[in-house]
Amino acid sequence: MKTVAFFDAKPYDVASFKKFADEDINVRFFENKLNSDTVSIAACCDGVCAFVNDTIDKGVIDALSNYGVGVIAMRCAGYNNVDLKSAQGRVKVLRVPAYSPYAIAEHTMGMILTLNRKLHKAYIRTRDHNFSLEGLTGFDLNGKTVGIIGTGKIGRCFADVCKGFNMNVLGYDPYENDEFCGEYVTLGELLIKSDIISLHCPLTKDNKHIICGETLSKMKNGVYIINTSRGQLVDTSALIDGIKSGKVGAAGLDVYEEEASLFFEDKSEEVIRDDKLSTLISMPNVIVTSHQAFLTREALDGIAKTTMENFKAYFNGEELKNEVVAN
Ligand code: NAI
Repeated sequence: MKTVAFFDAKPYDVASFKKFADEDINVRFFENKLNSDTVSIAACCDGVCAFVNDTIDKGVIDALSNYGVGVIAMRCAGYNNVDLKSAQGRVKVLRVPAYSPYAIAEHTMGMILTLNRKLHKAYIRTRDHNFSLEGLTGFDLNGKTVGIIGTGKIGRCFADVCKGFNMNVLGYDPYENDEFCGEYVTLGELLIKSDIISLHCPLTKDNKHIICGETLSKMKNGVYIINTSRGQLVDTSALIDGIKSGKVGAAGLDVYEEEASLFFEDKSEEVIRDDKLSTLISMPNVIVTSHQAFLTREALDGIAKTTMENFKAYFNGEELKNEVVAN
């Protein structure tokens, strides 16, 4: 029997992983995030299961390697929080490359519709018996241009959703894909022409702050910025400046640069000491969701199934289809 330490476990994780339990793998659920303070929990384990806001740096990898933990199974697609170079040759890193691109694409459109049609305001108003329409005017998505940065599985799925709204779909991706239903353009052209810009690329060392003062300055006045990918793709200070000046008409953020110590946790009894996040949340044309775009039943089941298959493949010495390695 192999034992796996499951970090940052939430009740919905436990429920979905119990559905895909394996009699040869004992999954021990811990609420702690994985970082240098908590890694010792994994001391007697054969593998660890981690998530997007765990800190899997060199120190954590060194410790895991010393404990004889041979595998880190990320229960997500992104792996920017793992020091792959340190892991190389010592600890295998596996991930879930695809589960439900629909979950993220649909959440993305949900944020656009909410911001544009002011559903977040209307909900509060009618609960207070305020039936005025003042200030709730939106615009038709029909005929507007959406620019999609990153046309992988999620970006392509989101492009299909936008086509359903009869939008003009532009895409930028260094690796173009025949299945993308829109038109490929340069990043510069996308920035200039789009009414709505949505990020669907992974965070890499080259694209940190791809949305910054310089790129924002090239965009249309009133542009919508939607980020469901990774927080560090957007320079938050520049975004706030853009919203204050009116350059940015609205922002939908499912991810945030400094989300690691906040998102996924109930902080409602605490004073948030992150002034940038507080400013964003206070703005009427900003919606922040706490990295929930993936959170559908189908996606949770897909994540649990593939993660358990990844563990089984590793423990049985089989081919590791979902391994990620340093470039
Ligand atoms: P994918 O690997 O299928 O596609 C990513 C695409 O981005 C690829 O086509 C790649 O060529 C492109 N790309 C890489 N660097 C780029 C750059 N600098 N500019 C433009 N395009 C670039 O990945 P998938 O499944 O579509 O996921 C995309 C991202 O979505 C993930 O990396 C993750 O950060 C985020 N994500 C967020 C979730 C959430 O709950 N908010 C859930 C799942 C993923």
